[in-house]
Amino acid sequence: MSSPLDFPTLSIVDHPLVRHKLTLLRDRATPTKQFKELVDEIAMLMAYEATRDLVLEPSSVDTPLETTGGWTVRGKKLTLVPILRAGLGMVEGILRLIPSARVGHIGLYRDHDTLEPVDYYFKVPGDVSERDFLLLDPMLATGGSASAAVTSLKRAGASRIRFLCLVAAPEGVRRLTADHPDVPILTASLDRELNEHGYILPGLGDAGDRLFGTR
Ligand code: PRP
Ligand code: URA
Repeated sequence: MSSPLDFPTLSIVDHPLVRHKLTLLRDRATPTKQFKELVDEIAMLMAYEATRDLVLEPSSVDTPLETTGGWTVRGKKLTLVPILRAGLGMVEGILRLIPSARVGHIGLYRDHDTLEPVDYYFKVPGDVSERDFLLLDPMLATGGSASAAVTSLKRAGASRIRFLCLVAAPEGVRRLTADHPDVPILTASLDRELNEHGYILPGLGDAGDRLFGTR
């Protein structure tokens, strides 16, 4: 059984609300509408942790009574990049916390037979080297999709990238850490293993299908 301590780049966002919502998310009986709401809520809670190190600068504010000191997040340019499709489910929740963030998109799907990622779309804001990227995908299984997405971002000039997922398999964490040791990984859960079809156990099934009601 893998422990988070085995992986130096991995952080688990451990919070009672995240555990509760993740349990509902895993439930095979959870319908699409609730599944979508839960992904959105967990992503928002995770973004709170993922942005803990944002740099503040002192500012001042005029209250109705007087001028006082305050704090403003320093003008970092934050960009959310969902991996299509399932990563889309994480965007709105995070934008509610960080409404000024830009959103790029990376289109990738995992070939059902080879489990290799196939890429079909890439679009991110232009000033890539000045931006901090939060790469989003609920599932880190073999790690092929996340690793390919990071490679694409780096090829475009990105250097500050963090990967946020809801459920990670040890195999995926190992692969992403080996390919991109500079990319911190945040997850709500480190699950046990992959099955012979590359699905995470215990997992939550196919995140894209459950989010969008396809199958
Ligand atoms: C799922 C998931 C990840 C990928 C993870 O997407 O959302 O992108 O699989 O698997 P990996 O770590 O083994 O690469 P999928 O390929 O099913 O595409 P979809 O989001 O369009 O359904
Ligand atoms: N992609 C998913 O959506 N679920 C898994 O368990 C593995 C890959």
